[in-house]
Amino acid sequence: MTSLTASHAADLVAALLFILSLAGLSQHRTSRAGVVYGIAGMGLALGATVVVAAQSISAGAVALIVLAMALGAVLGLWRARRVEMTQMPELIAVLHSFVGLAAVLVGWNSYLEVESHGAAQDRIAADLLAIHHAEVFIGVFIGAVTFTGSIVAFLKLSARINSRPLMLPGKNALNVGALVAFVALTVWFTISPSLPLMITVTVLAMALGWHLVASIGGGDMPVVVSMLNSYSGWAAAAAGFLLDNNLLIVTGALVGSSGAYLSYIMCKAMNRSFLSVIAGGFGIEAPSGDVQEQGEHREVRAAEVAEMLAQARSVIIAPGYGMAVAQAQHPVAELTRQLRQRGVEVRFGVHPVAGRLPGHMNVLLAEAKVPYDIVLEMDEINDDFAGTSVVLVIGANDTVNPAATDDPASPIAGMPVLRVWEAEQVVVFKRSMASGYAGVQNPLFFRENSGMLFGDAKQSVEEILQALGDGTWPDAAPVTRQPTVPSR
Ligand code: TAP
Repeated sequence: MTSLTASHAADLVAALLFILSLAGLSQHRTSRAGVVYGIAGMGLALGATVVVAAQSISAGAVALIVLAMALGAVLGLWRARRVEMTQMPELIAVLHSFVGLAAVLVGWNSYLEVESHGAAQDRIAADLLAIHHAEVFIGVFIGAVTFTGSIVAFLKLSARINSRPLMLPGKNALNVGALVAFVALTVWFTISPSLPLMITVTVLAMALGWHLVASIGGGDMPVVVSMLNSYSGWAAAAAGFLLDNNLLIVTGALVGSSGAYLSYIMCKAMNRSFLSVIAGGFGIEAPSGDVQEQGEHREVRAAEVAEMLAQARSVIIAPGYGMAVAQAQHPVAELTRQLRQRGVEVRFGVHPVAGRLPGHMNVLLAEAKVPYDIVLEMDEINDDFAGTSVVLVIGANDTVNPAATDDPASPIAGMPVLRVWEAEQVVVFKRSMASGYAGVQNPLFFRENSGMLFGDAKQSVEEILQALGDGTWPDAAPVTRQPTVPSR
């Protein structure tokens, strides 16, 4: 077997490992195996690429590749070990920007190589040169949109810039104009490639990527992150065509299509128009920024909440981003254990975009060893709030906002939310009356059956545990209460 055939075989196995990885990552129980398949596939792909490259380049160049890989591995390991769960989406956005930048550089390199070296021209048959030019142009365009779009997503997710949508006058016309200009420039470049056109498309795409993501508001950022994931896949596939690397094409297409599908299902889950989000928030209005109080809110103390829980038949916990910030999952798990031990039915209601990345809450709850079978998705639990004694909203805000269902003028109107307000009593754990990620006021805080427990969520839950231990909790042997809501 020649080294080229071996490399093709390695590519095929790596592609299969990537498919297995995606399948594994789609479920909690198999996610670890999914990660292992992904690492194995990537290791194989890198190894095969270096072995094939070593046949045609100098030993010094191979050493440089290995050095670059070692540096990348050290940096990657260092960041992965230090990153907090809450910073994961920011990290992913930065990584997407690298893929976009790499695609831009590959496109530029390919253009300059073909322009300056006759030898490189020989590699491409004359009648295929126009296709090559189109590949370069499209690859640079997708890469540059991904690059700047991901940087804006990083800045918004890390709160370095405001998450509110940028509303430039005629923003939709600007986006459509940029796309039309890109199509026209592609035709021009294919017929007559030139350096000014390359510079123009790069600048145009960078401006478009920036504007597209800047125009999308906080509530829609989850979709943006997965959409940029998709773009980074297409950028990698474009680079694969230019580098004549089949595995990069297959992997890019896998990432591109799975990211697009994830964006689509997220849009469906959040009742958002897929097209309006990918078109830079087409038809979506900016929140007014007016987060004035909508009445009186009632403050409660940890001891009162402990009392409430001691009397409760059933409890639902709705966790959100604040639980992750406070790292409150461990005391929350302990509270759950103690309540269940005393016969209170406790379940969790997890909104699909609670936190800052898909599955964020599930990962935290699994880490704190909360049993899987009491962690329910929004659709599974939404009808049960009405029969529930107490709902603990722990660091969630947008995902429990009744304005989404009651106020058609709200920027989050139509987004399905956990209907926590239907329970007998609701306790909201947060530090202040500040708004959530989408920057909109939450009328839940002013409902008669809501109480605000101010403070860091971890500290508040620990205070409740202490109050329960101090005697608010009946010390008698475990009581078995009949749950009003059937367990699943
Ligand atoms: P948010 O609406 O962001 O609200 C979180 C709340 O937690 C805030 O109101 C904050 O209020 C409170 N908080 C922060 N730190 C706290 C602490 N240490 N202790 C107690 N409370 C604390 O959260 P959510 O309901 O989970 O909704 C998620 C939002 O993020 C949605 O708008 C979603 O679209 C967006 N988003 C989601 C994703 C994915 S994929 N999940 C990705 C990007 C964006 P205080 O400041 O008053 O404490």
